[in-house]
Amino acid sequence: MEERLQKVLAARGVASRRKCEELILAGRVMVNGKKVDQLGFKVDDEHDKIEVDGNVIGKVPFVYLMLHKPTGVITSASDPQGRKVVTDLVKDIKERVYPVGRLDLDTSGLLLMTNDGELANKIAHPRFEIDKVYLATVKGIPSEQALKTLREGVMLEDGMTYPAQAELTFKDPQLNQATIKLTIHEGRNRQVRRMCQAVGHPVVKLKRVQLGFLTLGKLAPRQYRMLTPQEVDKLRQLFT
Ligand code: URA
Repeated sequence: MEERLQKVLAARGVASRRKCEELILAGRVMVNGKKVDQLGFKVDDEHDKIEVDGNVIGKVPFVYLMLHKPTGVITSASDPQGRKVVTDLVKDIKERVYPVGRLDLDTSGLLLMTNDGELANKIAHPRFEIDKVYLATVKGIPSEQALKTLREGVMLEDGMTYPAQAELTFKDPQLNQATIKLTIHEGRNRQVRRMCQAVGHPVVKLKRVQLGFLTLGKLAPRQYRMLTPQEVDKLRQLFT
């Protein structure tokens, strides 16, 4: 299949698509022995020989994994300030995988990582309405009215939230805390924290336990596991 050169380079884990464009423009890329230094060039992903700085760039297999992201680690592939990032936790994987979507520094839980950029974009795109399930430990014990507001939509500074599922799963009157199981399919910045705050119950702890049909299960913090071939097929089927 014919694809743009920078897309193929990125898919093979060379760098991000934009960085690959820079490599092409810098004259560092050859296709079938000829230098290509213009954007827009298409290659046959199956048969063309692609080199960067003289090194042959072969096809890489797609890798899909779920990480139990601990708190205190940034959802990014790199950090200019040298802080710990999620890719540090999957260093023994030789393919370069990237996080799908984002969990805040102080949020833990299920984070999908892959080198399949196309599938990653679809999963993260709100248009596909993938459910994300969070367990939010909040201050105070939410009333039925507060839960109803979370379900029906909360007015945030960037607009009304879509209807959600909200269920009280645990109450601790002594600590004056409770746990809400909240299912949303949007992915706005700090959305769960802002929703809970808006109904008067600031979040003390936040964990994502499910993404679509994928559940965190008993995976311990900092651990990861590969998705099974069946799980990968099921993910792909969501978008066909
Ligand atoms: N909502 C939040 O507030 N934080 C996250 O990390 C994810 C969803």
